[in-house]
Amino acid sequence: MNQQITAQQLNAAGHLTIGGCDSIELAHEFGTPLVVYDVSQIRRQIRSFRKVFEENNVDYAVSYASKAFAAIAMYQVAAVEDAHVDVVSAGELYTAIKANFPMDRVSFHGNNKSREELEMAVDHHVGTIMLDNFHEIDLLADVLEVKDATIDVMLRITPGISAHTNKYIQTGQVDSKFGFDLQSGQADEALQKVLANPRMKMRGLHAHIGSQIFELAGFEGVAKKLVEVAAHWRDQFNYEAEVINVGGGFGIRYVSADHPLQPEEFVDAIIKAIKKETSAKGLSMPAIWIEPGRSIVGPAGYNLYTVGSRKDVPGLKPYVTVDGGMGDNIRPALYQAEYETVLASDPQAPIKEHVRLAGKYCESGDILAQDQGLPETKPGDVLAMLDTGAYGYSMASNYNRNPRPAVVFAENGKAQVVVERESLEDLVHLDRSYKQ
Ligand code: LLP
Repeated sequence: MNQQITAQQLNAAGHLTIGGCDSIELAHEFGTPLVVYDVSQIRRQIRSFRKVFEENNVDYAVSYASKAFAAIAMYQVAAVEDAHVDVVSAGELYTAIKANFPMDRVSFHGNNKSREELEMAVDHHVGTIMLDNFHEIDLLADVLEVKDATIDVMLRITPGISAHTNKYIQTGQVDSKFGFDLQSGQADEALQKVLANPRMKMRGLHAHIGSQIFELAGFEGVAKKLVEVAAHWRDQFNYEAEVINVGGGFGIRYVSADHPLQPEEFVDAIIKAIKKETSAKGLSMPAIWIEPGRSIVGPAGYNLYTVGSRKDVPGLKPYVTVDGGMGDNIRPALYQAEYETVLASDPQAPIKEHVRLAGKYCESGDILAQDQGLPETKPGDVLAMLDTGAYGYSMASNYNRNPRPAVVFAENGKAQVVVERESLEDLVHLDRSYKQ
Protein backbone atom coordinates (compact mmCIF):
# COMPACT_ATOMS: atom_id res chain seq x y z
CA MET A 1 0.00 0.00 0.00
CA ASN A 2 1.63 3.23 -1.06
CA GLN A 3 1.17 5.86 1.63
CA GLN A 4 1.70 8.75 -0.73
CA ILE A 5 -1.26 8.06 -2.99
CA THR A 6 -4.60 9.11 -1.58
CA ALA A 7 -7.99 7.71 -2.57
CA GLN A 8 -8.80 11.07 -4.22
CA GLN A 9 -5.98 10.48 -6.67
CA LEU A 10 -7.66 7.37 -8.08
CA ASN A 11 -10.42 7.62 -10.68
CA ALA A 12 -13.34 5.25 -11.27
CA ALA A 13 -11.08 2.91 -13.26
CA GLY A 14 -8.71 2.81 -10.28
CA HIS A 15 -5.99 4.60 -12.26
CA LEU A 16 -3.66 7.18 -10.78
CA THR A 17 -4.74 10.69 -11.69
CA ILE A 18 -2.46 13.71 -11.84
CA GLY A 19 -4.06 17.13 -11.78
CA GLY A 20 -7.37 15.37 -12.44
CA CYS A 21 -6.01 13.61 -15.57
CA ASP A 22 -5.79 9.84 -15.95
CA SER A 23 -2.09 8.94 -15.94
CA ILE A 24 -2.59 6.04 -18.34
CA GLU A 25 -4.30 8.33 -20.82
CA LEU A 26 -1.50 10.89 -20.41
CA ALA A 27 1.06 8.19 -21.18
CA HIS A 28 -0.86 7.09 -24.26
CA GLU A 29 -1.54 10.57 -25.54
CA PHE A 30 1.92 12.10 -24.96
CA GLY A 31 4.16 9.02 -24.88
CA THR A 32 6.70 7.97 -22.28
CA PRO A 33 8.99 8.75 -20.61
CA LEU A 34 6.87 11.71 -19.62
CA VAL A 35 7.22 14.32 -16.91
CA VAL A 36 3.87 15.45 -15.54
CA TYR A 37 3.22 18.23 -13.04
CA ASP A 38 0.11 18.67 -10.93
CA VAL A 39 -0.04 22.45 -11.27
CA SER A 40 -2.51 22.99 -8.41
CA GLN A 41 -0.02 21.40 -6.10
CA ILE A 42 2.67 23.85 -7.22
CA ARG A 43 0.27 26.72 -6.55
CA ARG A 44 -0.68 25.32 -3.14
CA GLN A 45 2.94 25.10 -2.06
CA ILE A 46 3.71 28.68 -3.07
CA ARG A 47 0.55 29.88 -1.35
CA SER A 48 1.25 28.03 1.86
CA PHE A 49 4.70 29.62 2.13
CA ARG A 50 3.24 33.06 1.45
CA LYS A 51 0.35 32.63 3.86
CA VAL A 52 2.58 32.28 6.93
CA PHE A 53 4.34 35.55 6.20
CA GLU A 54 1.04 37.29 5.61
CA GLU A 55 -0.49 35.94 8.80
CA ASN A 56 2.53 37.20 10.70
CA ASN A 57 2.43 40.55 8.97
CA VAL A 58 6.03 40.26 7.86
CA ASP A 59 7.36 41.85 4.69
CA TYR A 60 8.60 38.96 2.55
CA ALA A 61 9.42 37.36 -0.76
CA VAL A 62 8.96 33.72 -1.68
CA SER A 63 11.57 33.41 -4.38
CA TYR A 64 11.21 30.18 -6.33
CA ALA A 65 14.68 28.69 -6.96
CA SER A 66 14.08 27.98 -10.61
CA LYS A 67 17.04 25.62 -10.98
CA ALA A 68 14.70 22.97 -9.56
CA PHE A 69 12.62 23.17 -12.75
CA ALA A 70 12.92 26.00 -15.26
CA ALA A 71 10.55 26.33 -18.19
CA ILE A 72 8.52 29.21 -19.59
CA ALA A 73 5.32 27.71 -18.19
CA MET A 74 6.81 27.41 -14.73
CA TYR A 75 7.86 31.07 -14.65
CA GLN A 76 4.32 31.93 -15.81
CA VAL A 77 2.80 30.02 -12.89
CA ALA A 78 5.26 31.62 -10.45
CA ALA A 79 4.32 35.06 -11.83
CA VAL A 80 0.59 34.48 -11.36
CA GLU A 81 1.20 33.21 -7.83
CA ASP A 82 3.05 36.45 -6.93
CA ALA A 83 6.30 34.62 -6.31
CA HIS A 84 9.74 36.00 -6.98
CA VAL A 85 12.23 33.75 -8.78
CA ASP A 86 15.91 33.24 -8.54
CA VAL A 87 17.97 32.43 -11.60
CA VAL A 88 21.56 31.23 -11.83
CA SER A 89 22.43 31.56 -15.50
CA ALA A 90 21.75 33.53 -18.65
CA GLY A 91 19.63 30.55 -19.74
CA GLU A 92 17.31 30.68 -16.76
CA LEU A 93 17.13 34.46 -17.04
CA TYR A 94 16.33 34.21 -20.75
CA THR A 95 13.56 31.72 -20.03
CA ALA A 96 12.09 34.07 -17.41
CA ILE A 97 12.27 36.94 -19.91
CA LYS A 98 10.48 34.80 -22.53
CA ALA A 99 7.78 34.11 -19.93
CA ASN A 100 7.36 37.87 -19.36
CA PHE A 101 8.22 37.31 -15.73
CA PRO A 102 8.40 40.69 -13.92
CA MET A 103 12.13 41.40 -13.84
CA ASP A 104 11.98 43.37 -10.60
CA ARG A 105 11.08 40.08 -8.87
CA VAL A 106 14.17 38.25 -10.18
CA SER A 107 17.30 37.58 -8.13
CA PHE A 108 20.44 36.53 -9.93
CA HIS A 109 22.63 34.00 -8.10
CA GLY A 110 25.83 32.21 -9.02
CA ASN A 111 29.45 31.93 -7.95
CA ASN A 112 30.92 32.80 -11.35
CA LYS A 113 28.55 35.03 -13.26
CA SER A 114 30.14 36.13 -16.49
CA ARG A 115 30.39 39.71 -17.71
CA GLU A 116 27.80 38.87 -20.39
CA GLU A 117 25.42 37.52 -17.76
CA LEU A 118 25.81 40.64 -15.60
CA GLU A 119 25.28 42.85 -18.66
CA MET A 120 22.13 40.96 -19.52
CA ALA A 121 20.88 41.34 -15.93
CA VAL A 122 21.55 45.09 -15.95
CA ASP A 123 19.99 45.56 -19.42
CA HIS A 124 16.84 43.75 -18.31
CA HIS A 125 16.63 45.56 -14.96
CA VAL A 126 16.84 42.41 -12.87
CA GLY A 127 15.66 43.12 -9.32
CA THR A 128 18.65 41.95 -7.29
CA ILE A 129 22.13 40.67 -7.98
CA MET A 130 23.25 38.27 -5.28
CA LEU A 131 26.95 39.13 -5.09
CA ASP A 132 29.07 36.08 -4.35
CA ASN A 133 32.75 37.10 -4.62
CA PHE A 134 35.17 40.01 -5.08
CA HIS A 135 35.74 39.35 -8.78
CA GLU A 136 32.02 39.76 -9.32
CA ILE A 137 31.84 43.05 -7.38
CA ASP A 138 34.54 44.49 -9.66
CA LEU A 139 32.93 43.09 -12.80
CA LEU A 140 29.51 44.47 -11.89
CA ALA A 141 31.01 47.85 -10.94
CA ASP A 142 32.53 48.06 -14.38
CA VAL A 143 29.35 46.98 -16.18
CA LEU A 144 27.33 49.59 -14.26
CA GLU A 145 29.86 52.29 -15.06
CA VAL A 146 29.89 51.50 -18.77
CA LYS A 147 26.09 51.39 -18.89
CA ASP A 148 25.66 54.34 -16.54
CA ALA A 149 23.24 52.21 -14.52
CA THR A 150 22.40 51.27 -10.94
CA ILE A 151 21.15 48.01 -9.48
CA ASP A 152 20.10 46.46 -6.16
CA VAL A 153 22.50 43.95 -4.66
CA MET A 154 22.72 41.61 -1.72
CA LEU A 155 25.79 39.88 -0.33
CA ARG A 156 25.84 36.12 -0.09
CA ILE A 157 27.77 35.03 2.94
CA THR A 158 28.99 31.60 4.03
CA PRO A 159 27.43 31.27 7.45
CA GLY A 160 29.60 28.43 8.74
CA ILE A 161 26.60 26.20 9.34
CA SER A 162 26.42 22.77 7.75
CA ALA A 163 23.09 21.15 7.16
CA HIS A 164 22.64 17.46 7.76
CA THR A 165 22.27 16.40 4.18
CA ASN A 166 24.20 14.84 1.30
CA LYS A 167 27.64 16.50 1.10
CA TYR A 168 27.16 17.47 -2.54
CA ILE A 169 24.13 19.55 -1.69
CA GLN A 170 25.53 21.18 1.46
CA THR A 171 26.57 24.75 0.90
CA GLY A 172 26.71 26.63 4.20
CA GLN A 173 29.87 25.15 5.73
CA VAL A 174 32.99 27.36 5.91
CA ASP A 175 34.80 25.30 3.30
CA SER A 176 32.41 26.08 0.44
CA LYS A 177 32.83 27.60 -2.99
CA PHE A 178 29.87 29.93 -2.41
CA GLY A 179 29.74 33.32 -0.78
CA PHE A 180 31.92 35.62 1.32
CA ASP A 181 33.65 34.12 4.32
CA LEU A 182 32.70 35.67 7.64
CA GLN A 183 35.51 34.74 10.01
CA SER A 184 38.32 36.10 7.87
CA GLY A 185 36.58 39.46 7.45
CA GLN A 186 35.80 39.00 3.74
CA ALA A 187 32.11 39.78 4.23
CA ASP A 188 32.97 43.09 5.95
CA GLU A 189 35.38 44.00 3.19
CA ALA A 190 32.73 43.19 0.56
CA LEU A 191 30.19 45.37 2.36
CA GLN A 192 32.57 48.31 2.42
CA LYS A 193 33.25 47.94 -1.31
CA VAL A 194 29.54 47.86 -2.10
CA LEU A 195 28.68 50.79 0.18
CA ALA A 196 31.42 52.82 -1.48
CA ASN A 197 29.84 52.29 -4.89
CA PRO A 198 26.89 54.64 -5.52
CA ARG A 199 25.73 52.46 -8.42
CA MET A 200 25.05 49.51 -6.14
CA LYS A 201 22.14 49.72 -3.76
CA MET A 202 22.87 47.39 -0.88
CA ARG A 203 19.62 45.63 0.15
CA GLY A 204 20.76 43.00 2.63
CA LEU A 205 22.35 39.66 3.13
CA HIS A 206 21.83 36.11 2.02
CA ALA A 207 22.88 32.62 3.02
CA HIS A 208 21.85 29.16 1.87
CA ILE A 209 22.86 26.21 4.01
CA GLY A 210 21.97 23.26 1.81
CA SER A 211 19.14 21.27 0.37
CA GLN A 212 16.64 18.58 1.47
CA ILE A 213 16.86 19.69 5.11
CA PHE A 214 14.46 18.20 7.64
CA GLU A 215 15.36 20.02 10.84
CA LEU A 216 14.47 23.50 11.97
CA ALA A 217 17.77 23.98 13.79
CA GLY A 218 19.75 24.81 10.63
CA PHE A 219 17.27 27.50 9.59
CA GLU A 220 17.08 28.97 13.08
CA GLY A 221 20.86 28.96 13.18
CA VAL A 222 21.26 30.71 9.85
CA ALA A 223 18.57 33.26 10.74
CA LYS A 224 20.37 34.05 13.99
CA LYS A 225 23.74 34.26 12.29
CA LEU A 226 22.46 36.65 9.60
CA VAL A 227 20.93 38.95 12.22
CA GLU A 228 24.21 38.92 14.14
CA VAL A 229 26.01 40.00 10.98
CA ALA A 230 23.38 42.68 10.37
CA ALA A 231 23.88 44.03 13.90
CA HIS A 232 27.64 44.02 13.44
CA TRP A 233 27.27 45.91 10.16
CA ARG A 234 25.06 48.51 11.82
CA ASP A 235 27.51 48.98 14.71
CA GLN A 236 30.64 48.92 12.61
CA PHE A 237 29.59 50.49 9.32
CA ASN A 238 26.37 52.29 10.14
CA TYR A 239 24.54 50.14 7.59
CA GLU A 240 21.14 48.56 8.33
CA ALA A 241 20.05 45.58 6.21
CA GLU A 242 16.54 45.84 4.77
CA VAL A 243 16.36 42.18 3.71
CA ILE A 244 17.48 38.95 5.29
CA ASN A 245 17.39 36.05 2.85
CA VAL A 246 17.78 32.61 4.43
CA GLY A 247 17.86 30.67 1.15
CA GLY A 248 16.00 27.46 0.40
CA GLY A 249 16.50 23.80 1.21
CA PHE A 250 13.18 22.80 2.77
CA GLY A 251 13.04 19.00 2.71
CA ILE A 252 10.29 16.97 1.05
CA ARG A 253 9.05 13.39 1.27
CA TYR A 254 10.51 11.10 -1.37
CA VAL A 255 9.79 7.82 0.39
CA SER A 256 7.27 6.95 3.05
CA ALA A 257 9.99 6.93 5.71
CA ASP A 258 10.65 10.66 5.13
CA HIS A 259 8.72 12.94 7.46
CA PRO A 260 9.32 16.49 6.33
CA LEU A 261 7.98 19.52 8.14
CA GLN A 262 5.28 21.59 6.51
CA PRO A 263 6.13 24.94 4.87
CA GLU A 264 4.26 26.62 7.73
CA GLU A 265 6.57 25.10 10.32
CA PHE A 266 9.76 26.10 8.51
CA VAL A 267 8.64 29.65 7.87
CA ASP A 268 7.20 30.10 11.32
CA ALA A 269 10.50 29.08 12.93
CA ILE A 270 12.47 31.43 10.65
CA ILE A 271 10.17 34.37 11.41
CA LYS A 272 10.35 33.71 15.16
CA ALA A 273 14.15 33.42 15.14
CA ILE A 274 14.57 36.66 13.18
CA LYS A 275 12.05 38.54 15.33
CA LYS A 276 13.73 37.39 18.52
CA GLU A 277 17.24 38.23 17.37
CA THR A 278 16.41 41.58 15.85
CA SER A 279 14.59 42.73 18.96
CA ALA A 280 17.48 41.51 21.15
CA LYS A 281 19.89 43.50 18.98
CA GLY A 282 17.65 46.56 18.68
CA LEU A 283 17.35 46.25 14.90
CA SER A 284 14.16 47.01 13.04
CA MET A 285 12.44 43.97 11.55
CA PRO A 286 13.81 43.36 8.03
CA ALA A 287 11.92 41.80 5.13
CA ILE A 288 12.47 38.03 5.06
CA TRP A 289 13.14 36.30 1.77
CA ILE A 290 13.20 32.55 1.24
CA GLU A 291 14.21 30.58 -1.85
CA PRO A 292 12.39 27.25 -1.97
CA GLY A 293 12.96 25.16 -5.09
CA ARG A 294 12.50 21.47 -4.34
CA SER A 295 9.58 21.96 -1.96
CA ILE A 296 7.61 23.90 -4.59
CA VAL A 297 7.96 21.56 -7.56
CA GLY A 298 9.24 18.24 -6.16
CA PRO A 299 6.05 16.71 -4.77
CA ALA A 300 4.04 18.01 -7.75
CA GLY A 301 6.07 16.05 -10.32
CA TYR A 302 5.66 12.50 -11.66
CA ASN A 303 7.75 10.60 -14.17
CA LEU A 304 5.75 8.13 -16.25
CA TYR A 305 7.62 5.23 -17.80
CA THR A 306 6.65 2.16 -19.80
CA VAL A 307 7.94 -1.23 -18.73
CA GLY A 308 10.06 -3.07 -21.31
CA SER A 309 12.56 -5.84 -20.78
CA ARG A 310 13.18 -7.89 -17.69
CA LYS A 311 16.05 -10.00 -16.41
CA ASP A 312 15.62 -12.78 -13.86
CA VAL A 313 18.57 -14.68 -12.47
CA PRO A 314 17.88 -17.32 -9.83
CA GLY A 315 18.82 -15.99 -6.40
CA LEU A 316 19.12 -12.35 -7.57
CA LYS A 317 16.67 -9.51 -7.40
CA PRO A 318 15.06 -9.13 -10.83
CA TYR A 319 15.73 -6.18 -13.11
CA VAL A 320 12.61 -4.54 -14.53
CA THR A 321 13.63 -2.02 -17.17
CA VAL A 322 11.76 1.11 -18.22
CA ASP A 323 12.09 3.37 -21.24
CA GLY A 324 13.84 6.19 -19.35
CA GLY A 325 16.51 6.39 -16.67
CA MET A 326 19.52 8.49 -15.79
CA GLY A 327 18.96 10.83 -18.74
CA ASP A 328 15.67 12.05 -17.31
CA ASN A 329 16.50 11.53 -13.64
CA ILE A 330 20.15 11.38 -12.67
CA ARG A 331 19.45 11.75 -8.95
CA PRO A 332 19.46 8.04 -8.01
CA ALA A 333 22.81 7.53 -9.76
CA LEU A 334 24.33 10.80 -8.57
CA TYR A 335 23.08 11.08 -4.99
CA GLN A 336 21.73 7.61 -4.27
CA ALA A 337 18.38 9.39 -4.10
CA GLU A 338 15.37 7.20 -3.43
CA TYR A 339 11.90 7.42 -4.89
CA GLU A 340 8.71 5.38 -4.78
CA THR A 341 7.13 4.02 -7.93
CA VAL A 342 3.62 2.66 -8.46
CA LEU A 343 1.76 0.85 -11.20
CA ALA A 344 -0.22 3.69 -12.75
CA SER A 345 -3.23 1.50 -13.59
CA ASP A 346 -3.55 0.28 -9.98
CA PRO A 347 -1.32 2.19 -7.55
CA GLN A 348 -2.55 0.29 -4.50
CA ALA A 349 -2.22 -3.20 -6.02
CA PRO A 350 -0.62 -5.60 -3.52
CA ILE A 351 3.14 -5.94 -3.86
CA LYS A 352 4.19 -9.25 -5.44
CA GLU A 353 7.93 -8.79 -5.75
CA HIS A 354 10.84 -6.48 -5.06
CA VAL A 355 12.80 -5.48 -8.14
CA ARG A 356 15.62 -3.31 -9.32
CA LEU A 357 13.96 -0.66 -11.45
CA ALA A 358 16.52 -0.25 -14.21
CA GLY A 359 16.92 2.50 -16.77
CA LYS A 360 17.71 1.96 -20.45
CA TYR A 361 21.07 3.75 -20.47
CA CYS A 362 24.28 1.87 -21.19
CA GLU A 363 25.63 2.07 -17.72
CA SER A 364 25.34 -0.40 -14.83
CA GLY A 365 24.74 2.50 -12.45
CA ASP A 366 21.58 3.46 -14.30
CA ILE A 367 19.23 2.03 -11.70
CA LEU A 368 16.27 4.23 -10.80
CA ALA A 369 15.45 2.23 -7.66
CA GLN A 370 17.44 -0.54 -5.99
CA ASP A 371 14.50 -2.09 -4.22
CA GLN A 372 11.07 -1.28 -5.51
CA GLY A 373 8.06 -3.31 -4.39
CA LEU A 374 5.69 -3.82 -7.32
CA PRO A 375 2.73 -5.98 -8.29
CA GLU A 376 3.28 -8.26 -11.26
CA THR A 377 4.23 -6.15 -14.26
CA LYS A 378 4.46 -6.88 -17.96
CA PRO A 379 5.89 -5.05 -20.96
CA GLY A 380 3.69 -2.08 -21.83
CA ASP A 381 2.59 -1.36 -18.27
CA VAL A 382 2.90 2.26 -17.19
CA LEU A 383 4.81 3.03 -14.00
CA ALA A 384 4.59 6.34 -12.19
CA MET A 385 7.59 7.46 -10.18
CA LEU A 386 6.49 9.93 -7.50
CA ASP A 387 7.96 13.26 -6.33
CA THR A 388 10.26 13.66 -9.32
CA GLY A 389 9.46 17.34 -9.95
CA ALA A 390 12.66 18.87 -8.57
CA TYR A 391 16.07 18.51 -10.22
CA GLY A 392 14.85 15.72 -12.48
CA TYR A 393 14.04 17.33 -15.81
CA SER A 394 16.28 20.30 -14.95
CA MET A 395 19.29 17.97 -14.73
CA ALA A 396 18.25 15.86 -17.71
CA SER A 397 20.79 15.03 -20.39
CA ASN A 398 21.01 13.50 -23.83
CA TYR A 399 23.34 10.73 -22.70
CA ASN A 400 23.38 7.90 -25.24
CA ARG A 401 21.67 10.40 -27.53
CA ASN A 402 18.32 9.74 -25.99
CA PRO A 403 15.85 12.59 -26.51
CA ARG A 404 14.66 14.33 -23.34
CA PRO A 405 11.02 13.69 -22.41
CA ALA A 406 8.10 16.01 -22.87
CA VAL A 407 6.78 17.93 -19.88
CA VAL A 408 3.04 18.19 -19.34
CA PHE A 409 1.18 20.50 -16.96
CA ALA A 410 -2.07 18.97 -15.66
CA GLU A 411 -4.67 20.97 -13.79
CA ASN A 412 -8.42 20.57 -13.24
CA GLY A 413 -8.59 17.58 -15.56
CA LYS A 414 -6.84 19.31 -18.48
CA ALA A 415 -3.33 18.57 -19.72
CA GLN A 416 -1.03 20.75 -21.85
CA VAL A 417 2.43 20.07 -23.19
CA VAL A 418 4.68 22.82 -21.82
CA VAL A 419 7.97 21.42 -23.07
CA GLU A 420 7.93 19.32 -26.23
CA ARG A 421 9.61 15.95 -26.37
CA GLU A 422 12.92 16.22 -28.19
CA SER A 423 12.92 14.62 -31.61
CA LEU A 424 15.77 12.69 -33.19
CA GLU A 425 16.24 15.70 -35.44
CA ASP A 426 16.64 17.93 -32.35
CA LEU A 427 19.47 15.69 -31.25
CA VAL A 428 21.55 16.47 -34.32
CA HIS A 429 20.52 20.05 -34.98
CA LEU A 430 23.73 21.49 -33.51
CA ASP A 431 25.95 18.94 -35.24
CA ARG A 432 27.94 20.01 -38.31
CA SER A 433 29.46 17.56 -40.69
CA TYR A 434 33.24 17.44 -40.74
CA LYS A 435 34.87 18.22 -44.06
CA GLN A 436 37.87 15.88 -44.29
N1 LLP B 1 18.93 29.10 -3.02
C1 LLP B 1 20.19 28.82 -3.36
C2 LLP B 1 21.20 29.87 -3.30
C3 LLP B 1 20.53 27.53 -3.80
O1 LLP B 1 21.79 27.27 -4.13
C4 LLP B 1 19.52 26.53 -3.88
C5 LLP B 1 19.82 25.17 -4.33
C6 LLP B 1 18.21 26.87 -3.51
C7 LLP B 1 17.95 28.17 -3.08
C8 LLP B 1 17.07 25.91 -3.57
O2 LLP B 1 17.22 24.82 -2.73
P1 LLP B 1 15.99 23.79 -2.57
O3 LLP B 1 14.88 24.51 -1.88
O4 LLP B 1 15.59 23.36 -3.94
O5 LLP B 1 16.55 22.69 -1.77
N2 LLP B 1 20.69 19.07 -7.62
C9 LLP B 1 20.53 18.82 -6.21
C10 LLP B 1 20.13 20.06 -5.46
C11 LLP B 1 21.09 21.21 -5.61
C12 LLP B 1 20.60 22.44 -4.91
C13 LLP B 1 21.42 23.60 -5.29
N3 LLP B 1 20.99 24.84 -4.70
C14 LLP B 1 19.50 17.71 -6.02
O6 LLP B 1 19.03 17.17 -7.01
O7 LLP B 1 19.20 17.35 -4.88
